[in-house]
Amino acid sequence: MDFKNTFGQVTFIVGTQWGDEGKGKLVDILSQEYDVVARCAGASNAGLTIICDGKKYAFHLVPSGVLHENKICVLGNGVVIHLPTLMKELKGLDEAGINYKDRFFISDRAHLVLDYHQALDQSREIQRGDQKIGTTKKGIGPAYEMKINRSGIRMGELKDFESFEAHFRANVELIKKQGVDIDVEKELEKYKEYAETFGPMIKDTFDFVHENLKNGKYVLVEGANGTHLDIDFGTYPFVTSSNTTVGGASTGLGIPYSKIDSAIGITKAYTTRVGEGPFPSELHDETGDRIREAGHEFGTTTGRSRRCGWFDAMVVKYSVQLNGLTAINLTKLDVLSGLKTLKIATGYKFKGESLPSFPADLKILENVEIEYEEMPGWEEDISEISNFEDLPENAQKYVKRIEEILECPIKFIGVGADRKAMLFV
Ligand code: GDP
Ligand code: IMO
Ligand code: MG
Repeated sequence: MDFKNTFGQVTFIVGTQWGDEGKGKLVDILSQEYDVVARCAGASNAGLTIICDGKKYAFHLVPSGVLHENKICVLGNGVVIHLPTLMKELKGLDEAGINYKDRFFISDRAHLVLDYHQALDQSREIQRGDQKIGTTKKGIGPAYEMKINRSGIRMGELKDFESFEAHFRANVELIKKQGVDIDVEKELEKYKEYAETFGPMIKDTFDFVHENLKNGKYVLVEGANGTHLDIDFGTYPFVTSSNTTVGGASTGLGIPYSKIDSAIGITKAYTTRVGEGPFPSELHDETGDRIREAGHEFGTTTGRSRRCGWFDAMVVKYSVQLNGLTAINLTKLDVLSGLKTLKIATGYKFKGESLPSFPADLKILENVEIEYEEMPGWEEDISEISNFEDLPENAQKYVKRIEEILECPIKFIGVGADRKAMLFV
């Protein structure tokens, strides 16, 4: 497939469910042709896995495009950055012999996640008790909170360490009042080193991305998390603290909407969710366990077991509309091999009435009656197949039915974890 001609100069990759749809794999594949791969939101709560020639890479902060030599990688202003995590990831790249020097840049406007944010995240989850969100405890909520209340520290401040130090000390006084103990001098020592290491990578990425666009370069925006984890449009409060949907490309990178040519939604052939919150098509039986085992549905970031359920078209239709999707990558179709019957959730009813769209009210969402459509499954292992026409007939019908319901073309189908296990339709 000629990706550039099909998808245009700026393409946004977005998860359409509750994250972990397999975004990293398509970003990695498309990166071969694109020039710049940029993150616009989220943080180290994201966990993106790429398997290439049997070697496994897991990224939390570094854009997945980094595996391709000469591709420029950017962390935009909308990302919040925990430097100790980033440091570890860069060390991993060093060990793997992947050179990222002079091609990895961080926005000077991006906010820092500090260890005190992580401590706050953990203590708040404990305080919430059975109302907990099930966060990744990576400090995401508290870091975005301080950004919004205008006391956050931005990457650019590291370039003037005296002013960074003053800001840090002032924030520590605020945080201490919330019961978090901080070894200020030790932290400052650590950040002095980070300032030197990361200094050359800090840039005005707004200007840099626009310069690249002007020069005809192709930009892939790598979404993190998923549509239903969006702070505005997700299943609030069981969401993350940023805009994970298409608007994030504008607010988190500075790319105006008129320059975004396409948005590709990454959609698992079933549904998963980590953490708390409603999940209408969740399976609490052995079929759910079987999907979890076959799909290795255990978190990349926290190792938690992912909740599994049937494909829910109400969830994804909402994402098609919200993100203006131009294409879909259906992933992990191979995981469904061997199931006798498959179910697709096609509608929700509440108190006998059909709902027109995905509801905002969680009390409704938790009590919907699901309308399911059943389809026969297939027995065959499909992980070695490379053409859509060679898939078992029932697998083809399953894909076609999903495409019909979603009213969005399925252009890619994942049939295995490896980079090569992708059908182009
Ligand atoms: P992301 O956060 O959206 O990038 O997804 P994760 O990396 O957290 O989780 C997706 C998992 O599924 C990873 O372990 C991938 O290697 C794996 N994966 C991606 N696509 C496929 C596929 O088509 N089939 C199978 N079996 N595994 C896949
Ligand atoms: P990727 O990019 C799956 C979920 C957490 C929790 C909620 C809030 O790998 O798809 P947070 O730590 O952000 O405050 O947690 O959001 N969550 C994810 N779930 N994949 C992700 O990212 C996620 N990022 C956040 O599990 O329920
Ligand atoms: Mg993930």
